[in-house]
Amino acid sequence: MKYLSFFSGKGGVGKTTLAILAASFFAYAMNLKVRVLDLESHDYRINPFRKLDLERLKTPGTPLYSYAERNQMPSPENFYTIEEGDQFVKGFVDVLAKEKETASYDLTILDFPAHYDDNLPVHALAERGLLDCVYVPMRVEQQERRSACITGLGLASCGVKVKLLWNDIDADIVKRGTPLDEAEEEVSFLKDRGLDYSPIRIKHFKKASQATDKHCFVRSTICWPDKYVRMWCPELIDLFEEISKELQV
Ligand SMILES: Nc1ncnc2c1ncn2[C@@H]1O[C@H](COP(=O)(O)OP(=O)(O)OP(=O)(O)O)[C@@H](O)[C@H]1O
Ligand SMILES: [Mg+2]
Repeated sequence: MKYLSFFSGKGGVGKTTLAILAASFFAYAMNLKVRVLDLESHDYRINPFRKLDLERLKTPGTPLYSYAERNQMPSPENFYTIEEGDQFVKGFVDVLAKEKETASYDLTILDFPAHYDDNLPVHALAERGLLDCVYVPMRVEQQERRSACITGLGLASCGVKVKLLWNDIDADIVKRGTPLDEAEEEVSFLKDRGLDYSPIRIKHFKKASQATDKHCFVRSTICWPDKYVRMWCPELIDLFEEISKELQV
């Protein structure tokens, strides 16, 4: 089994969104047996998303309903597993380590809440070989980049393969001007210290909840709408193909 996480000390950088998208890609486009571990213990999000998706599937007029009318959907027994847990529960790391031997999943994706200090379970997981690859999503603003660097360097020191990843959550970032030259300098500073970054830049995409056009959605926990992802955010496919190579899955 391989372990992947989108992790950051910063909130609202796209960790959960990318975890869900990655899970759907690997489960429905790559046919892997995927489990998502939702560790946002005070605010579980992923099961509620699944519930919402299942409701939309039954509701005429929603993008998911229209999509399902025209496309073959995965059967419910193939939906990826969503488990909820608390990373701070005593023994959490031991339970995961023990389970690694017997679990029948190809890939576990861990979704942590945002916070960072040197004693987080994420470091213990990394040291026990329970994180193969971590992507640190970040917005383009300098402060966000700095925070991502600190997170990334901390994880890299635990022996994990770490990559920083631009996620342009704010659609108007280009209009506002992007301090890219400065960012590039910072990135080469990081590379000198052995921290990698993905050349892929995730563009702003429309969410199902925003979509006025019924064909426009990318995120779902019950299917991988390949055609629409290619239309609205093809970088996601590049990213997941890159991750697939990193993880060798
Ligand atoms: N590339 C993108 N384009 C458009 N919206 C995005 C993109 N990435 C993330 N978002 C949106 O940004 C918001 C924050 O994303 P998300 O909840 O995934 O972040 P998070 O890092 O998991 O946050 P938290 O720290 O609260 O757990 C969500 O509304 C999500 O839909
Ligand atoms: Mg989250």
